[in-house]
Amino acid sequence: MKRGLLPCLVMAWLLLSGAAQAAPLTADSPDRKIHLEVDGSGEQLVYRVRFRQQPLITDSALGMQLEAGGMRSGGARLLGHSRAHFDETWTQPWGEVRQIRNHYNELTLALQTRDSKALKFNIVFRVFDDGIGFRYEWPQQPGLSDFTIEAEDTRFNFAGNYKTWSIPADAPTHYEMLYQQASLSAIANAHTPLTMETDDGVVVALHEAALMDFPAMILRGTGANGLRADLAGWHDGPKAKLRAPHRSSWRTIQIAASARALPTSYLMLNLNEPNKLGDVSWVKPAKYAGVWWEIHLGRATWNDDDPRHGARTANVMKYIDFAADNGLSGVLVEGWNEGWNHDWVKEGWRNSFTRASKNFDMPRLSAYAAQKGVRLIGHHETGGWIQNYERQLGAALDYYRQHGVNTVKTGYVAFDGINLFDAAGKPYKEAHDGQLFVNHQQKVVDEAALRHMMIVAHEPIKDTGLRRTYPNLLSREGARGQEFNAWSDDGGNPPGHDVILPFTRLLAAPMDFTPGIVQLTYEKDKPKNRVNTTLAKQLALYVTVYSPVQMVTDLPENYAAKPDALRFIKDVPVDWEDTKVLHAQIGAYVTFVRRDRGSDDWYLGSITNEQARALPTTFDFLGSGKTWVAEIYRDGEDAHWKTNPHAFVREQFLVTSRSAYTLRLAPGGGQAIRFRPAGAADLATLTAM
Ligand code: NOJ
Ligand code: CA
Repeated sequence: MKRGLLPCLVMAWLLLSGAAQAAPLTADSPDRKIHLEVDGSGEQLVYRVRFRQQPLITDSALGMQLEAGGMRSGGARLLGHSRAHFDETWTQPWGEVRQIRNHYNELTLALQTRDSKALKFNIVFRVFDDGIGFRYEWPQQPGLSDFTIEAEDTRFNFAGNYKTWSIPADAPTHYEMLYQQASLSAIANAHTPLTMETDDGVVVALHEAALMDFPAMILRGTGANGLRADLAGWHDGPKAKLRAPHRSSWRTIQIAASARALPTSYLMLNLNEPNKLGDVSWVKPAKYAGVWWEIHLGRATWNDDDPRHGARTANVMKYIDFAADNGLSGVLVEGWNEGWNHDWVKEGWRNSFTRASKNFDMPRLSAYAAQKGVRLIGHHETGGWIQNYERQLGAALDYYRQHGVNTVKTGYVAFDGINLFDAAGKPYKEAHDGQLFVNHQQKVVDEAALRHMMIVAHEPIKDTGLRRTYPNLLSREGARGQEFNAWSDDGGNPPGHDVILPFTRLLAAPMDFTPGIVQLTYEKDKPKNRVNTTLAKQLALYVTVYSPVQMVTDLPENYAAKPDALRFIKDVPVDWEDTKVLHAQIGAYVTFVRRDRGSDDWYLGSITNEQARALPTTFDFLGSGKTWVAEIYRDGEDAHWKTNPHAFVREQFLVTSRSAYTLRLAPGGGQAIRFRPAGAADLATLTAM
C-alpha cells in the first residue's frame, strides 16, 4: 500500500463534435481489470462494463427524469467529458482496517436533457480496482432552482442470469428480513446491497454510497437479467425534492474475482467524503452490556408500571457491576424514560426523552457508573414519530450529556413508514427509505456531533458509508439481528443467516447485531424460540460481524455459568488494525482474521450454515519469526446447533505462521481463536499444535 501519496488530479474537458460522439468513452480501473464504456451515440445514453475481458453489464440506460418550473425534462445528450486520476491512502479513526487506499480513474460526462429546457447535468464515474461508482450532479444554472426527481432511468442489465441474494423492498420491516436466494431474472424488487455470483464465481454487489438529502435507491427486476433503479418517493408524488446545485448518492457496483475478496472492498467508504468532524478522539469504540435481552425474553418489561420493569435502579446497578467486572465500557438501559406505558409504537408521539421513569434514578445511576469507570448508554425509541423526537432532540441529548452519557441507541420501530402529523394534526406516513428520513437521521448525527456524542441507530436508513464523513455514526442495525431469536414467530434466524450477512448487509458495514448469547435455549421464557447456532459460533460472530460497538448480550448470570466463553468475549477487541478473509462461500461459510489495533494479537472467527465443515488453514497472517499461543474456542466433538448447541471446548496450543490447522465447525457451528505472542511461561507449559 502506498502511503501519503498526494492525490493526483488530471482534468481536461473535451468538448465533443458530432463525429467524436460516435465512439464510446472509456475508463479502466487502475489494474485495468474493469473496463467501463459509456455510449452516447444513440437516443439513449448507455454504459456497459467488462471484467477481465468478459462482458458483465451489457448496455444499460443512464438518466433521471426531472420536473422544474412545471416542465418535465429527461434524456441525455452528451456535450463533453473530463478525466481525472486519484490515489491517496487515508486513515480510519476507528474501523476494520487502519489504512485504506482510495485509487481510481474518474470520467465525468457533461450532459444536457433532450428537451427545450436543455438542462445541464453531469454523471461522474469512478472506476476502482474493486468496482465502479457513479452519481448524477445538477449544477446551478438558469432555469434550475427548486426541482423534483420524478423517476430514475438507471438500469443494471447483466450478461447472465446470475445467482443473487437480497431482501425484498416491498416489505415494510426496516430491512429486518431473511435474505432470499433467487436467480436474477426472478427478482421482483430488492433493497441494496444486492449481491450476485456468476457461474465463474465472480461476485458483484449493487448498493449506494454517501446517501444524503436524497431518497434511497430500490431495485426492480425487469424480468430479463436486469434491474431498474427506483427511488423511495414522497407521499405526495415526487421521488426527491431538491434545489440546485445538488447531487444524487453514488450508485455502486462492487466487483470481486471471488466471494473472498468482497468483504474487504472499501469502495463504499472511498466514495464518501473525508471526516468533517475534525478531531474525533472523543469517538470511542466500545463493548456494552445492557438491560435488553431479559426484556426481549419477556422476563422484564419496558413498561414501568409492571413489577418486572427492567430499568429499575437496583437492576441497572447489577449490570453496571457486571460491566465493570468484565472491562466493558457501557451499559444500555431500555425503558429508562417515560413513554413505555402506552403503545410506544402507535402512540410514539407521546414518548418523552427528557423525563426518566419513576423507577430509574438517573443522577444516582450516572454517579454509580462513573465511580465504576462505566458509562450508561442512552436509548431513544421514537416509534418512528420523528417530529416528536426532533422537537426534543437538543434537550434530550443535553440531558444525557449532563449525566455522562456519550452514546445513544436510537430506534424507529414503525412498520409501514415514518409517522408524521400534517399541519391540521392528521397523521400520515413517509417512506422509511425516503429523503425525509435520510435527512432526519443526518440531523440526529449532526446534533450528536455538536455535543461529542455517538449514535447507534436501530431501524435505520441503510448504511452507505457515511461513517467516514461522520465518525460519530458508529453503527446501525438494518438487518435481522439477534433479537429475532428471542421472539420471532418463524423461530428466529436460521444458521445460514449469519453466513450471508458478510456478503450483503455488512458490505455497508458496521452492524449492531448483538452477538454473544451463551445460554442458547430458554424454553421457560420462550418455548418456540432459541438461538439457532452453537455456543462457539456466538463467539465467532464478534469477529465475523464487524461493529465498533458490540453488545455483550446475554444475562450476567448466564455468563457466570459459562466463564470460558465469557473469557473470549472479554478479550475480543472492537477496533482493528487489519482484516483478512481466509475462506468464503456466500451462504455457506466464512472465516475472518482481524488484528487488534491496540496490541499484536490476532483474532479469528469462522462460521458455517447448517452443514459441518472442515476448513484447512495456515496462519500466514501472523508473519514469520514468532511463536504464538492459539487460544481456541471450538465446537465440541458432537456439537450441533439443534441437538447439542452448548458442546464447547477451550484449548491452547503453541503455533507459528507455518502451523497447519483444520477448522472443524459443527452443523450451525463456528470457531473463535485468539492469537497472542507466547511468553516464557507459555513456552514452558503448552504443547505445539
Ligand atoms: C427494536 C430494536 O432493534 C431493539 O433493540 C429495541 O429493544 C426495541 N426496538 C425497542 O426499542
Ligand atoms: Ca430492530
